[in-house]
Amino acid sequence: MERKVRTAVIGCGMISKIYIKNLKNLFSIIDLVAVADLNRAAAEGKAAAYGVERVMTIDEVAADRDIELVINLTPAFVHYDIIRRMLEAGKHVWTEKTLTVTVEQGRELVALADEKGLYLGVAPDTVLGAGTQTARRALDTDMIGEVTSGVAVINRNQSLNAEVFTFLRGNGGSLPFDVGVYYIGTLISLLGPVECLHAFGAPARRHEPEFLFRNAEAEPWTIPGSNLVSASLKFVSGALVSVHFDGNTIGAEQHNITLFGTRGILKVGDPDKFNSPVSLIYAGQPECTLPFTHGYDGQNTVEATPFDFYGHRGVGVAEMAYAIRQGRPNRCSKEYGLHCLEILAGMEQSVLSGETVKIESRFDMKPLAPGYYSGFGSGRGDAEMSLVH
Ligand SMILES: NC(=O)c1ccc[n+]([C@@H]2O[C@H](COP(=O)([O-])OP(=O)(O)OC[C@H]3O[C@@H](n4cnc5c(N)ncnc54)[C@H](O)[C@@H]3O)[C@@H](O)[C@H]2O)c1
Repeated sequence: MERKVRTAVIGCGMISKIYIKNLKNLFSIIDLVAVADLNRAAAEGKAAAYGVERVMTIDEVAADRDIELVINLTPAFVHYDIIRRMLEAGKHVWTEKTLTVTVEQGRELVALADEKGLYLGVAPDTVLGAGTQTARRALDTDMIGEVTSGVAVINRNQSLNAEVFTFLRGNGGSLPFDVGVYYIGTLISLLGPVECLHAFGAPARRHEPEFLFRNAEAEPWTIPGSNLVSASLKFVSGALVSVHFDGNTIGAEQHNITLFGTRGILKVGDPDKFNSPVSLIYAGQPECTLPFTHGYDGQNTVEATPFDFYGHRGVGVAEMAYAIRQGRPNRCSKEYGLHCLEILAGMEQSVLSGETVKIESRFDMKPLAPGYYSGFGSGRGDAEMSLVH
C-alpha cells in the first residue's frame, strides 16, 4: 500500500459535492483532511456533510506543512491565483477545468510547476472513465484501422444556463470553454495532439434576465467570447476533425463524437459523462455497443447526491496521487490541460483573425490498464488498481 496523500479542497460550491464524496469514500490513496472557501459557511457545510476534519482559510491551507495536495474547485477565472499561490507554497495541485482562462497564464503555471518539481493535474478527468478508456482501447487494438476523420458536436442554451450557474457570465463561461473542453479533452486523449486549426464563430446573444428566477435586480449580460464555434482541427496524426459547439440554441443536447477509420467507425458518446456507451460500426453489420473494458463507469453506489450523474469525478486526482508516490507522469497532466486550453483559445484567435492557428504545446497520455471494474462489491470494485501504474 502506498502512503496516503494528505489533501485539501479549495472551493466548496456545486461540483465539490461529488468530489468530496468520492475523495472520502472511493480512493484509498487520498486522505482528505481539510476544506476551504472564501465563503466559510460553504466550507463548514461540506465538512459537516461529509465528515472532513478541518475547515481552513486559504492562508492556512498554504501554510500547513502536512498538506501535500490541493484540489482547486473555484470558478475558472479564479484558477490562476489559487494555483500560483499553492505551487509557491510547495503544494501539488489538481484543478478543475479549464487550467486558466488565458494560454499565457497557463504556460506560466506549467513553467512554475516544472521549476518547483510539483505536479499540476487538470480536469476533465472524464477521459479516465469507462467510456473514453474503452474507446481508446478500441483504437489502440486497431478495431477501426487508422482514424482519418471525425466530428464532435455539442449544443446548449448557455445564456439560459448562466441564470443558474452565474459564474458562466464571466471569462471561461462560453460553451466552447465550459463544455467544449470535454469534447476537446476526449478527442486529444483518443487521437493525440492537434497541429493546427481554423475556426468561424459567433458571440453569445445579450441575455435579458431572467426567465427562470425573474430577478428584477439582475442586469442583462453577454457571455464573453465566441459562444458558437465551427472549427476544423488537423491532428498531428493527420486526422481531420470537424468541431461544432453551439451555445446559442436550445438545451436539448445532440452530443456526438464519431471517429471514421479506414476499416470501421467508432461512436464515443457523451464525453461529459463517465459511462457513455461506445459503439462500433462495420460495413454491412448492425451497430454494436462494446462492453466497457475499464472501471469508473459513473455507477456510484455511495450515498446519492444531486451530482451523481458526474459519477466518478476525482479519478484524475487519485491517479495523480499514485503518480506522486511513484514519481511517474500523471495522465491528466498539466501538458494535457495546457493543450486543451491552447486549442480552445486558438479557436477564439482564429475566429477573430480569420487565420489558421498553429498549436504549439504537446502532451502524452498513456491509457489506463484494462480489466479492472468498479461495479461490484461496495461499488469500488478493483478499479483503483488501474490507477496505480
Ligand atoms: N457546476 C458544474 O456542473 C461543474 C461541472 C464540472 C466542472 N465544474 C468546474 O468546477 C469549478 C467550480 O464550479 P462550481 O460549479 O462548483 O462553481 P460554484 O460557483 O458553485 O462554486 C465555486 C466556489 O468557489 C468559491 N470561491 C470563489 N473564489 C474563491 C477564492 N478566491 N478562494 C476560495 N474560494 C473561492 C466560491 O465561494 C464557491 O463556493 C469550475 O472550474 C467549473 O468549471 C463545474
